[in-house]
Amino acid sequence: MPGSSSTSSCIITIDGPAGTGKSTVAKALADRLGLSCLDTGSMYRAIALLALESELSVEDGPALASLAATADLRFDWTQDPPAMCIGDRDISARIRDLDVSGLVSQVAEQPEVRRVLVEAQRRIAEDHPRLVTEGRDQGSVVFPDADVRFFLDADEAVRAGRRSRQMADRGDQVDEQAIRNDIQKRDQLDRSRAAAPLVQPEGSILIDSTRMSIDEVVDQMIRLVHRETGHHGEDIA
Ligand code: DC
Repeated sequence: MPGSSSTSSCIITIDGPAGTGKSTVAKALADRLGLSCLDTGSMYRAIALLALESELSVEDGPALASLAATADLRFDWTQDPPAMCIGDRDISARIRDLDVSGLVSQVAEQPEVRRVLVEAQRRIAEDHPRLVTEGRDQGSVVFPDADVRFFLDADEAVRAGRRSRQMADRGDQVDEQAIRNDIQKRDQLDRSRAAAPLVQPEGSILIDSTRMSIDEVVDQMIRLVHRETGHHGEDIA
């Protein structure tokens, strides 16, 4: 294709609240477009796990940030999706547990932690310049000049139901009310925090997935990526 090459950079951001299916959608979109996929929530969850294990207060931003800067936090890109690791320890499953989920919003509130992780995310994008990256601030703060920026939303009850099914599929014990409470609490904290609150980035594309399947969301995103980038075919390169 003239003017194109499989090495040209392409950053697509997906932000939105918990339980919208962001991770699943980001992974599927990345697979279909031949891009890498970055789940930035895992990085905040990893810091929350480190805080738990080292009995650090989740409100001690500077201490958490130095933990974040010195711990050997990395993704294992040989796995699909990339595994979140501390050194050689794969913590991808452990960071989904409710004790970590219950602390992570407070960790994500700390500006010192955000500074360290935002820098780490931009470094990752330098190494993986063809990337779908999902989180809360990817289109608003980390990659405001991304090629395409999405904001994925859905009604709260639908999001809680999806998160419950996801946990049940993993074989976890599910208390739907506890999950709904956790989602409510995290939404409130994510939207109201001073540092990089969850907002729909100006100029981003809103997709309300309340009545859409994951496949429908991904198909719509592909159409929009083609429209926004002017490329067609599955491989946008
Ligand atoms: O997407 P998730 O549930 O794994 O995110 C975990 C927490 O991290 C959630 O409270 C929001 C926060 N987060 C954030 O503040 N910024 C990001 N880029 C990603 C996640």
